[in-house]
Formats: sequence, C-alpha cells, structure tokens
Amino acid sequence: MQKPNNINSAEFKKMMNDFEGFQNPGTRGSKDGVKSHQGEGINFDMIPEELEAYLNEFVVEQKKAVEILATKICTHFNRMKLEKYGKLKRPIIGNIKNNILMIGPTGVGKTFMVKLIADKIGVPFVKADATKFTETGYVGGDVEDLVRDLVHAADGNIAAAEYGIIYIDEIDKIASASNSRGPDVSRTGVQRNLLKLMEEAEVNLRTPHDLASQMEAAMQAQKTGKVEKKVINTRNILFIVSGAFAGLERIIEKRRNISGIGFNTGVKEKKDYNVDLFRSVRTEDFMTYGFESEFIGRLPVIAVLDQLDENGLYKILKNENSSVILGKTMDFAAYDIDLEFSDEALFEIAKMAHLEKTGARGLSSVLEKILVKFEKKLPSTAVRKLFVDDNVLNNPEHVLTKLVNESVFLSFSENFKKNHNIDIDFTETAEDILRELALENSLSVEKHLENVFENYQHGLHLLNADNFKVDEECAKNPEKYLNEFIRKTREEKKEI
Ligand SMILES: Nc1ncnc2c1ncn2[C@@H]1O[C@H](COP(=O)(O)OP(=O)(O)OP(=O)(O)O)[C@@H](O)[C@H]1O
Ligand SMILES: [Mg+2]
Repeated sequence: MQKPNNINSAEFKKMMNDFEGFQNPGTRGSKDGVKSHQGEGINFDMIPEELEAYLNEFVVEQKKAVEILATKICTHFNRMKLEKYGKLKRPIIGNIKNNILMIGPTGVGKTFMVKLIADKIGVPFVKADATKFTETGYVGGDVEDLVRDLVHAADGNIAAAEYGIIYIDEIDKIASASNSRGPDVSRTGVQRNLLKLMEEAEVNLRTPHDLASQMEAAMQAQKTGKVEKKVINTRNILFIVSGAFAGLERIIEKRRNISGIGFNTGVKEKKDYNVDLFRSVRTEDFMTYGFESEFIGRLPVIAVLDQLDENGLYKILKNENSSVILGKTMDFAAYDIDLEFSDEALFEIAKMAHLEKTGARGLSSVLEKILVKFEKKLPSTAVRKLFVDDNVLNNPEHVLTKLVNESVFLSFSENFKKNHNIDIDFTETAEDILRELALENSLSVEKHLENVFENYQHGLHLLNADNFKVDEECAKNPEKYLNEFIRKTREEKKEI
C-alpha cells in the first residue's frame, strides 16, 4: 500500500479531516463511522478493530467473517480517502477494489452483517437479489439499475452514492448451469455486466425507461440551478455479494482429491455444511461452478460463514441486542403484555430451531409457532405477563387455558379494586372450586363471580376492610362465608 511521503502524522490527520470526497448522504444523516462537517463534506474515521467490536455486539459466532468484513470495509473507505488525498501523485493503474464475496448457508448472518455495517457507517446502501436479474433474462439495464437505486438511497446525492455499498444476495443463482445443454447465455451475460460495474463503469442516470430518475434530475436542476452530472462512476462503490453455493463443496472436494492434496477421500454423498472445505475454495472451483474467471477476479475478498449450531442459536436468543427476542417482546408489548423467557425454554427453542436447518431464521419460525396462539388470545384477557418456560413449550394449550381462566379472576379483582377500592384476591383452590361451581350452574365464570360476590362490596365496606382473600371455604359458599365473617369481625371489635 502506498504511504503519503514526507508528511508527519498530524499533517496527515488534518488532511484527512479536510477531505471532502464524501458527501453527507442526505437525510440518512451521519453515523458514527462518518462524521459530518457543517453538513457538507464527511470523513470516514473508523479502524478495523472498532468496527469489529461493534459487529461483535450484535453478531453471534462468525468471528472470522466479522474480522474480514470489518477490516476490508474500513480499509476500503480509508483507502479512498488516501487516494483522494494523493490525487496529485501518480494514481495506481489497474487497482483492484476490495469487493467481498460471502459464502454461507441461509440465516447465519450474511445480510444482517452487511446491514449493520451500512447502518453504522451511514453510507448509501442497496440490497438486491441476483435472482432478479435471471428472471428478466439478459437485460443490461437491469444490473445498472442497482447503481441508480443507490442514488435514490442517497436521496439523489450522486457524490454520496459514488461511495456507497451495493449488496447482492443469491449471487450463486447467476452461475451458469455448466452441465446443462449449451452455454447459459443469460447468466453469463449478467455476470459480464455486473463485473463491469464492480470494476469501473459510468452509469447513465437518465435512462429513457426510468422516468423517476429523469424527473429527479430535473427537480434537482431546478432546486440548485445547476446542471447536474448525469452519470455516476462506480469506481469507488463497494460490492458485497453472497450466496449459499450449494454444490460447490463437491467441486472443491473433487479438485482436492484429484490434485492429491485432499483429505477425507471417502467422500460421502450427503454431508453437512463443511466450512473448512469452503475456506479452501479457489477461483477454478468457482469456474467449474459456473462463474467467469473475470467475475470471481473482481471479488478478491472471500468470507466464509459458519453454520450455527444449537449453542450458537441459543447465544443469539440470549444476546440482548438480538432482534429475534426483542422483536417478539415488542409484538407482545404492543398489547401491553410483558414477555419473558426462562433459560431452559430458550435452549429448547434453539434446539427446535436447529432442526429446521434454516439458521437463525428457524428461531423466528419456532417462536411464531409457539406463541401465535398466545398472541391472539391474551390481548382479549386481563393477562399482562407471559413467562415462557418449559411448560409453555410442552403444554401450550393447557397453559393458555389456565392463563385465560386465571385472567377472569384477575379482571374481576381489577374491576373490584377500581369500583370499590378493595383488593380482592383468590387462592388457587378457591379459583378451582369457583370454576367448577360455575360449570355446575351452567354459567360463565365471570357471571358466577358476579352473582356470588354481589354483596361483598357492601359487606366489606361495612367492616372498613381494604382487602379480602377468597379461600376454599369462602369459594364454596360465599354468601354464608360473608355473613359469618361479618359476625365474627364485629364480635372481635366488641371484645376490643
Ligand atoms: N450470527 C448471527 N448473530 C446474530 N443474529 C443472527 C446471526 N445470523 C442470523 N441472525 C438473525 O437472523 C436473521 C436472519 O439472518 P440473515 O438475514 O443475516 O440471513 P442470511 O445469512 O442473509 O440468510 P439468507 O441466505 O437466507 O439470506 C437476522 O436478521 C438476525 O436477526
Ligand atoms: Mg440474506
């Protein structure tokens, strides 16, 4: 890497601070990594370990991938500052950008990491699925739309967009099907178009088929009174692509066995995701898989993500920044219900999610499956807390019925307090008895409570009581119990 000559560190720092190559990406505002100076020029000032530490607050496991991403992204942006600063010096011809390829199965954090990074450093960011390109076939304009989208993401600020991040998921879907009949023109075509963008290309922002971009340009010109630049250069745009690359292992394995380096010669047909094998991937393997060597050549950084096991999934659930639990807690909080989990239940959920083989995505689907009935029913009851323990996982119907039943007593107590300012409380046995009696009288529990405790407010007021506990005796015959209670209390008072 070139270093600035004859400049001491203080001077260098100052020049970096004065660097105005980045523009504030409009209303997205400045984030920690990119500091705003009077809302105009901005300055990227993160170093790899800082970004790594930040990611580690959210991302569970995936240490190697986090390390690579944090490092290469910081280097990418810091390099751009350096290049901009060194513009009077000889530019590096044929420079290769640090575009990144992420390999990993579903739900292990690929998109999550890129989103966290884009959000942290506050650069314009777009995400697309490569499948979008194959569906429409070989249409050059499509791939370029990504770059235009980046300008939209930057609220029309082209200079900011030129330093943005384009993330393309499911990149393995544009591998040409090498073993099918004839060359796969459309996918190879998409790769070629994409690789041009990944290196350096000028993309016209005003395409005849994109009315919105034309209007936007016209509006900008009107606002600023200037004739805006019509093209965006992709030289500094960072490309991150990702995919699961199913089947690539077999290609790597085959190559390694043939070349004699191989381990594990007894190749099994169906194997779990083998991270070590993926880490030994070479360009030639990608070529066999169906990629142009030029395409892979534009992706010099490879980050392989690990499969998440039960423990990893459990850690995600336990992570206080994890959106999985936070999201679910919010769903219930929306109905004013507190949602909490026991550790045992969380581990059980992790185990169930692991069986789904969809990484952390399995966590959400398992949680939904378990909780959706509670989410439907509890908002119409007085229940304001759900503690998810083993019991909820093993007997959800039973727990729900119990909660709903209890809630009748809870809301009776709440109303009693509200209307008469007396705390009335039921023992568990009392609740059981009252429920049975309601059933015997073919009444709802609510109605039964209303009937049998009809006189209680008067009785308790008479005694100036501010609380009362309904126990087994009372539940069996509330009327008789109240009379007895009044008589006894009065006698006691007389004695005093
Ligand atoms: N390593 C991880 N640490 C913490 N949370 C994670 C991790 N992996 C996934 N998650 C959680 O699971 C969700 C889904 O993961 P993500 O979108 O990153 O999957 P992906 O790897 O992009 O999979 P796909 O190939 O299906 O797109 C994330 O939003 C995040 O909440
Ligand atoms: Mg994804």
